[in-house]
Amino acid sequence: MERIAIVTGASGGLGEAFVDRINAMPNIDKIWAVGRNPDKLENLCSRFSKAVPLVADFDSNGVDLITEKLKSESPDVRLLVNNAGLAYLGRFEDMDCKKVASICNVNCTVPSVLMASSLPYMNKGARILNISSASSFQPNPFLSMYSASKVYLKNLSRALNYELKPRGITVTAVCPYWVDTGMLPQEKNGKRINYAGITSPEVVADKALRDSARGKDMSVPSFLAKYFRIYSKYTPSSIVMRQWSAMIRKYL
Ligand SMILES: NC(=O)c1ccc[n+]([C@@H]2O[C@H](COP(=O)([O-])OP(=O)(O)OC[C@H]3O[C@@H](n4cnc5c(N)ncnc54)[C@H](OP(=O)(O)O)[C@@H]3O)[C@@H](O)[C@H]2O)c1
Repeated sequence: MERIAIVTGASGGLGEAFVDRINAMPNIDKIWAVGRNPDKLENLCSRFSKAVPLVADFDSNGVDLITEKLKSESPDVRLLVNNAGLAYLGRFEDMDCKKVASICNVNCTVPSVLMASSLPYMNKGARILNISSASSFQPNPFLSMYSASKVYLKNLSRALNYELKPRGITVTAVCPYWVDTGMLPQEKNGKRINYAGITSPEVVADKALRDSARGKDMSVPSFLAKYFRIYSKYTPSSIVMRQWSAMIRKYL
């Protein structure tokens, strides 16, 4: 039986870093590299021998395509990396209804359904990595939908890690602070934006894979992310939200 990894949002950023690391794993035969852009996926797959492109748009029938492929091929799913994600920085009121629904769908519904459809094909030692965020540590005004969706994914991951222990399956919520990818705007009004404590995608992927191999339900990759996790836990939310809002306004 073919031993596969599924990586969503594979065509760049953090997704590509996961494909790179998983490509070197001896216990994986094939990586289903999922993304929307066929050209980007072809380029990725030409560089990583185990990667095969799977074009899927989650705002369309993308999840059904993956579910059907699982049913028809019955692979041994060793790794599922729910990495695809969508952010909106700005006022909630300025988002149209389509955007609101899309963030809920891509950040919450899709990883949940992909876990449900993959679990029947997972055996002892299989691992799920759900890419949450340090935004899940507190409510974030002007990034409200994103941070709420990442709380959902973090709590679901941790609960499922507990629930699936008897089957020997690990579920890890990965909670990085800023990561140097295309998701972050590079400049504002002609000035380069500096993201304090920004981490490379490779550092996040390496730590996430290490933590999941150790059975951890959370992976918090940098000192700053760890610091904010503790700070948000012990500081009243009203103070954290005021500080965050003052910091983020310059990027709006
Ligand atoms: N960058 C950060 O600072 C940061 C911090 C914490 C957590 N994260 C999380 O890390 C994960 C990866 O993000 P990234 O930073 O690597 O940014 P990214 O390069 O923008 O990656 C996001 C991925 O999500 C995919 N995606 C979005 N909407 C989709 C849809 N409707 N259907 C299918 N795929 C869709 C994109 O696919 P296409 O290539 O087809 O557009 C893209 O590959 C996300 O879950 C993000 O929330 C990022």
